[in-house]
Amino acid sequence: MESAKLFIFAILVVSALGGIVPHRAVVPINDGKYLLETRVTLTGILTVKVTAESTGWLGWGISPTGEMAGSDMIIGGFNADTGEAYIGDRFSSGHGLPALDTIQNVELISASENATHTVLEFSRAVDTGDVEQDLKVENAVQYIVWAAGETDDLAYHGQVNRGAIELNLMDG
Ligand code: HEM
Ligand SMILES: *[C@@H]1O[C@H](CO)[C@@H](O)[C@H](O)[C@H]1NC(C)=O
Repeated sequence: MESAKLFIFAILVVSALGGIVPHRAVVPINDGKYLLETRVTLTGILTVKVTAESTGWLGWGISPTGEMAGSDMIIGGFNADTGEAYIGDRFSSGHGLPALDTIQNVELISASENATHTVLEFSRAVDTGDVEQDLKVENAVQYIVWAAGETDDLAYHGQVNRGAIELNLMDG
């Protein structure tokens, strides 16, 4: 009797915490050529780290449908010619370069590259408050779009280096 009560209590506690425990995911995409590592903190900050087999730009986004149109995207990378890291909070209206948001809701943590790979790490709020040009990270399965460019010129990724996966970034 007592142990049954304790068991039910434990289940209630675990399910109540389900929405707020920190969550991490490691997802190898495109045969591991685009490795996605994510983390959502208790305070509502999403950190994304991408390690990709590319020395060009890297893109990541939340999409309503799995397609570019309507997606809240971030494009960043490391430009070896200028020696500078870059990042931008963007919004896609369709097949083309996603425009920079009016309000930039992304923090670059780091970007670097070697002869073959780029590592890009950034963070943003789960809910940025920008209802016009950002999508919220939900505690639900969402489409995550990804892409990698050939160079740091923000041009078409080609038909192989882009796609969408389904992931709950907050799933505890
Ligand atoms: C940098 C400028 C970009 C250009 C010019 C561009 C252009 C295009 C074009 C022409 C297509 C249709 C052909 C195809 O299926 O490959 C496409 C599809 C796609 N792109 Fe992009 N794209 C850009 C950036 C991005 C970024 C940053 C992402 C993800 C973060 C992305 C994700 C996708 C996905 C998932 C598709 C297939 C689904 C769909 O048709 O929307 N693209 N893109
Ligand atoms: C380049 O960076 C990638 C990703 O961090 C790493 O796996 C790879 O070993 C590095 N290559 C060299 C030659 O250091």
